[in-house]
Amino acid sequence: MADLNELTEKLSLLKKEIEAKIDTFSDSKEAFEFRKSLMDSKSGQIGSLMKEMGKIPNELKADYGKKVNEMKAWALSKFDELETSLKEKEMKKRYESESIDVTLPAKMRPIGNLHPITQVKNQVVDIFGSMGFDIFEGTEIENDYYNFTALNIPKDHPARDMQDTFYLSPDFLLRTQTSAGQIHVMEAQKPPIKIISPGKVFRSDDDATHSPMFTQMEGLVVDKGITLGDLQGLLNVFVEKIFGDGTTTRLRPSYFPFTEPSVEVDVSCFQCKGKGCKLCKGTGWIEVLGAGVVNKKVLEGCGIDSDVYSGIAFGIGIDRIAMLKYGINNIKLLFESDLRVLDQIND
Ligand code: DAH
Repeated sequence: MADLNELTEKLSLLKKEIEAKIDTFSDSKEAFEFRKSLMDSKSGQIGSLMKEMGKIPNELKADYGKKVNEMKAWALSKFDELETSLKEKEMKKRYESESIDVTLPAKMRPIGNLHPITQVKNQVVDIFGSMGFDIFEGTEIENDYYNFTALNIPKDHPARDMQDTFYLSPDFLLRTQTSAGQIHVMEAQKPPIKIISPGKVFRSDDDATHSPMFTQMEGLVVDKGITLGDLQGLLNVFVEKIFGDGTTTRLRPSYFPFTEPSVEVDVSCFQCKGKGCKLCKGTGWIEVLGAGVVNKKVLEGCGIDSDVYSGIAFGIGIDRIAMLKYGINNIKLLFESDLRVLDQIND
């Protein structure tokens, strides 16, 4: 027969062991393993205490069983407490690790923007679009007729020397001017005509202000009674919108084979307002584009009766406008794709 004292001693030792150990758990999985090692009905330490029951005298069994059960109930409530506190700790840890510091500065993600030439092109297109101009998309490869002959620049005409041309074959070339588009439009369409034609043009030319490829925008208006006055009125609206309020134009006589009369158009300096500065080289004026009244020969060549209709045309250098507007002194900066330059320009 087992000694009840011995068993009671065992019980109190186990209780002490549980008490000592229960506060050391920081992980609910470990705690669960410990609980199992005590409570498991077959292998658990408390479970096996019940098995000892057979070894004690009958009259002591009730007392012993009660003690074991009390011990079991006590241990279970201890484990419940432990479980609650561990769960709380684990949740707190999780909340802390998942918490967001809303006071931290946001990570800046670089945002791209349109190339300055595209920005200016879009602005120019918008301005003329708001004045009722349609867009004509010309082609970059042209033949000699559209780029030169039909624009009153026959073979051996000295004006061909002004535009060093990339020839693809004796007949085909990379267009040197968007003016070629004028002919396509006038051949295809009866007046009234009111178009702009932006696009790339190509010339064998390369220095600080010239690039072998650059962007132009042609404008053409043909109708009854169109005059040089209409041209200036139109351009005055354009320069105010692109360079700012108060900017105006000045026309100077010039020469282009496809216009008669021809003019060079200057804008009043939008930086010094005409007083004279570095940008306008002290003159108060900046040359921006070529224009004129469409040469009768060009109209007639396209089958338009020049006694009934007249026209005005202009050719805007988009790169030049971009350089003026954004203070870029070397055209190469527009083609080097240097983000330090391009990032600064966002209208
Ligand atoms: N095509 C000319 C050039 O590239 C620019 C130009 C001048 C266009 C006068 C025109 C114009 O339409 O009327 O230099």
